[in-house]
Amino acid sequence: MLRIGSLQLDGPLVMAPMAGTTNLPFRIIARKCGASLVMTEMVSAKGLVLRHKKTLDFLSSDPDERPLGVQIFGSDPAVMAEAAAMAEESGADLIDINMGCPVRKVLKTGAGGSLMRDPHLVEKIVSRIRRSCALPLTAKVRTGFSPQEDSFADVLRALEAGGADAVTVHARYVLQGFSGLADWTRIAQAKSTVTMPVIGNGDVTGSIMAADMMNSTGCDGVMIGRAAASNPWVFSALDPFNTSSCDISAAERRRAVIYEHCILLKKYMDSRRVGFFMRGVLLRYTKGLTASTAFRNSISSLKTPEELMEAADRYLSSLKGAN
Ligand SMILES: Cc1cc2nc3c(=O)[nH]c(=O)nc-3n(C[C@H](O)[C@H](O)[C@H](O)COP(=O)(O)O)c2cc1C
Repeated sequence: MLRIGSLQLDGPLVMAPMAGTTNLPFRIIARKCGASLVMTEMVSAKGLVLRHKKTLDFLSSDPDERPLGVQIFGSDPAVMAEAAAMAEESGADLIDINMGCPVRKVLKTGAGGSLMRDPHLVEKIVSRIRRSCALPLTAKVRTGFSPQEDSFADVLRALEAGGADAVTVHARYVLQGFSGLADWTRIAQAKSTVTMPVIGNGDVTGSIMAADMMNSTGCDGVMIGRAAASNPWVFSALDPFNTSSCDISAAERRRAVIYEHCILLKKYMDSRRVGFFMRGVLLRYTKGLTASTAFRNSISSLKTPEELMEAADRYLSSLKGAN
C-alpha cells in the first residue's frame, strides 16, 4: 500500500490536481469512487499569505473528502513555507508543491514548471516548508523543462535532500504542455534515482493501463487526471479491493453519481456559479452515452440548476437499461 510520510493511503490511485475541475464537490465524488487521495487545484502561495478571499476559499474542505492534499505554487521559500503552514492549520493532510505548470503567467514568476530549471531553489523551498509544517510533503514535477534543459535527476535529488516524502512525475517536459505521449521510462528513471515513493502520471485511462504503468516502471502509485474528470469511476474500476458497488449496474451507478455531484455543487458552490459548473459536469459525464449529443446540445442554453437537473433527470431516465 502507498504510504507518504506518516500518511497511509488505502489504495495506489490518486486523483490529479486540475484547475477548474478538482473543486470540493468533485473531490468528494472522486474519493467516494475510490481515489485514495484527492488534491485541490494549484493555489497561489502568495494569494494565501496576502489573505486574498478567493484564494483562501480554495482551502475549504469537508471530512468526506479526506485525505486531502493542498497543492501550492510559488517560488519564494518563505512565502511557500507560510502558505503550507496556513494549509496545515486549515486541516490539510498533505502539502504538494506545483513544479509542472506550463502556463506562461506562472513561469514568468519563477514558479510552477520554472522550478524544473533550478534544483538549488527546489531544495531551499522544500527544506524551508519542512521546517514550518509537519505534514507529509510531496512535489509534482515534469521530466525537465525541455530536452535542452533537463535537470530531472538533479531536481529529484534536491527534493529528497530537502526532505520531501514522495514525488509525482508527470512524464512530459514542461515545454511540451500536454502534447505528445507521456514518456513512462522517465518514471522508471525516477524510481532508480530516489528512494522516496514515486507516483507515476500521464495518459492513464483505465485499470489495465494503471497496472501496466506500475509493472513497467516500478512506481508506487498512479495519479489520474483527465480520464477521471469525465469518469471518476476509473478509480473504483481500478481498485481490486473496492467491491462495494459491484451489485448495481454501471448505468445505475452513473445516474447516482451524476445526481450526487449536482447536489454537492448546489451545497458547496457560490449560487451564482452553480449552473455553470453543473453544465460542465453534465457535459463531461454524458460524453459517449446513448443519444448524448442531442442532450448535450439541449443543455447549452439552460442556465439555472433547476432547469439543468430537470433536463438531466429526463435524459437519464430515458437511458434505463442502456449503457
Ligand atoms: C484542465 C487541467 C487543469 C490542470 N491543473 C493542474 C493543477 O492545478 N496542478 C497540477 O499540478 N497539474 C494540473 N494539471 C495536470 C494534471 O494534474 C496531470 O498532471 C495531467 O493532466 C496529466 O495526467 P493525465 O494524463 O492523467 O490527465 C491540469 C490538467 C488539466 C487537463
